[in-house]
Amino acid sequence: MLMWLSVKERTSHLIHFYPAKLLRHIPYFFLNNSFFSSPGDIVLDPFCGSGTVLLEALLAGRNAIGADINPLGCLISRVKTTQIDESKMRKTIKNIKSKISEYPGTIELYIINLEYWFYPRIIEQLKRILEAVTFITDTKLKEFLLVCFSNCLRRVSLADPILYVPVKLNIHKYPKEHSLYKKVNERLDYLSKVNVFDEFFKLVNENLERIVDLNKCSRNDISTTVLCADARNLILNTEGNDILQSESIHLVITSPPYAGAQKYIRSTRLHLSWLRLCTSLKISELERTIIGREHYRKAEYSKLVELGFDDLDKRIEHLYKINPIRAYIIGNYIKEMRDVFIETKRVLKKDGYLILITASNYVCGEEFETHVYLTRILESIGFIVVLVLIDDIRSRGLMTKRNRTANIITREWVIVLKKIAYK
Ligand SMILES: C[S@@+](CC[C@H](N)C(=O)[O-])C[C@H]1O[C@@H](n2cnc3c(N)ncnc32)[C@H](O)[C@@H]1O
Repeated sequence: MLMWLSVKERTSHLIHFYPAKLLRHIPYFFLNNSFFSSPGDIVLDPFCGSGTVLLEALLAGRNAIGADINPLGCLISRVKTTQIDESKMRKTIKNIKSKISEYPGTIELYIINLEYWFYPRIIEQLKRILEAVTFITDTKLKEFLLVCFSNCLRRVSLADPILYVPVKLNIHKYPKEHSLYKKVNERLDYLSKVNVFDEFFKLVNENLERIVDLNKCSRNDISTTVLCADARNLILNTEGNDILQSESIHLVITSPPYAGAQKYIRSTRLHLSWLRLCTSLKISELERTIIGREHYRKAEYSKLVELGFDDLDKRIEHLYKINPIRAYIIGNYIKEMRDVFIETKRVLKKDGYLILITASNYVCGEEFETHVYLTRILESIGFIVVLVLIDDIRSRGLMTKRNRTANIITREWVIVLKKIAYK
């Protein structure tokens, strides 16, 4: 009996929120058998986000490599899969706690509209915490505390806590008798009194327990590597002169971004700025490399995307007549995913499996079977389908109705493919 399947928590999965997190049971299912991989093999997730696949791989005794374009996702993935000595953690936390109010909080930050998102007293306390964390020299400990700090930002900001993309709480949005009026009022009241230091150390203690649990479950002979890289070009270093070796991966498990879900960067923008993981300029640059993004210049979407499959091209042409931007978003998404699949195929061993978790979309009011077209592309480059499973989506961060012609995605497909030799 898989006891943990019914419980909410499992080691460090809940160390930090992340939009559109993968249901951890899916990688668990594919990693805990010797059909798709064996202990000690290397598993890749080229869209690792917050590291759900990486952690499950580690717990299943597989080495793992993850890549993501979002530096916050990379940071969370690293911390989520890193063992840290418990006594060192406790000692450092105690030390910071005793000195926290002595830090002057003069750290320089360049955050757009900072006062719009946080009360001044909260900014002042956050700066002191950040300063204290910045002085830590042990990278593992520092990154662990940065993740706790990042989580704390969400708890004390004026952004609506139930939405992933920041929207400021607004008491005037609801009539007084509305239930949400009371909730917003309570939240604003809490923010006017909250002691950020207390909130931070509460989160630190919760996450410390998670890492202690991880320490007990993970093995020292298993490694996890996180690459801050584009899934289309799996490079090992920032200079880009060292690439992930061809045919070095035994199994790929991944849940790519959805078409039209450009919000991975936007929803983490405040965190990226506070943690100084990205300048505002770099954030805009990153948004342009997100696969599935929605914002394009007119010059870009005035072209029709052609993919070389008759039915797909006709479908895109049909959508183009209704709404050129939406047609371009979906067409370009498929095109960019093709580049990811070519790179995936390069690094995957012959006969290796690719487990793809994807969903269909609604474009211009019509269902667009993304999973079917992605499968078609994979088959054309040398994969065969071995199994298709369907999962009903209950709650995934970015599942909102995004525009008038796009519906909420409610089903996802788990497609198992095998790399074949002859193509
Ligand atoms: C559905 S999420 C993955 C969530 C992950 N499985 C988890 O459980 O946290 C998709 C991820 O793809 C990343 N992404 C988007 N475009 C990318 C690209 N060109 N290269 C690498 N990662 C990219 C996003 O930053 C996001 O983290």
